Amino acid sequence: MKRIAVLFSGEGGNLQNLIETVHGNTCHIVCALTDNPNANGIIKAKHAGIDVRVLEYRHFKTREAFDQHLVAILQSYCIDLCVMAGFMRIVTPVFTSQLKAINIHPSLLPRFKGAHAIERSFYSADPQAGATVHHVTEELDGGAVILQQAFWRDTDESFQSFHKKIRAIEYEILPKAIIGLLNDLK
Ligand code: GRF
Repeated sequence: MKRIAVLFSGEGGNLQNLIETVHGNTCHIVCALTDNPNANGIIKAKHAGIDVRVLEYRHFKTREAFDQHLVAILQSYCIDLCVMAGFMRIVTPVFTSQLKAINIHPSLLPRFKGAHAIERSFYSADPQAGATVHHVTEELDGGAVILQQAFWRDTDESFQSFHKKIRAIEYEILPKAIIGLLNDLK
C-alpha cells in the first residue's frame, strides 16, 4: 500500500477527514507532522494510531535548515507523497527538489494566495468561491492546479455558511486528488 505523510499546523480537520477517507484503504498515513506543538490535529492523529512528529521552526536558524530536517524525517518514512493540509509554512527549494508534495488551499487559485483566503474571498465581489489542490513549489500557493471545485455564491450568505461550503469542498477534493495521484504512481 502507498505511504503518505500529512503536514498540518492547527485544527487538523483535513487530517481527520483523510483518516476517515483514505487511511487504511487507498494508502497508509505513516506520519502526521506539525510545526506547532499545540496543534489540535496531534490528538486526532494519535487517536488514529498514526506516528506524530513535531518540528518547531524556532530550533532552526534558516528556512533551508528547517526544510532539510523536515525532508530527512519524511524520507525516513519512505513516503510516496507528502500532503500539506493547513501547514502554515512556505517551503524552500531544499524541500521541493527532494519531495513530491501537494497542498489544499481554500480559494479558487490563483485568486487569494496566502493567508486568510476564506475571509478575503468572502469579502470580495467574486461570484464564485471554492478550494484548490495544487502541487507544492517554492512559490506560495503557486504550483500547478490538480483539482479545483467551485460554487456560485448566494448574495445574502453568512460567513459561517460560506466557510462550511469551502470546508466541504476541501473534504471532497483532497482525498480525490490523493487517490488520483497515487493511482498514477502504480
Ligand atoms: C484549511 O482551510 C486549509 O485549506 C488551509 O488551512 C485550513 C486548515 O484547516 N490551508 P484544518 O487544520 O485542516 O482544520
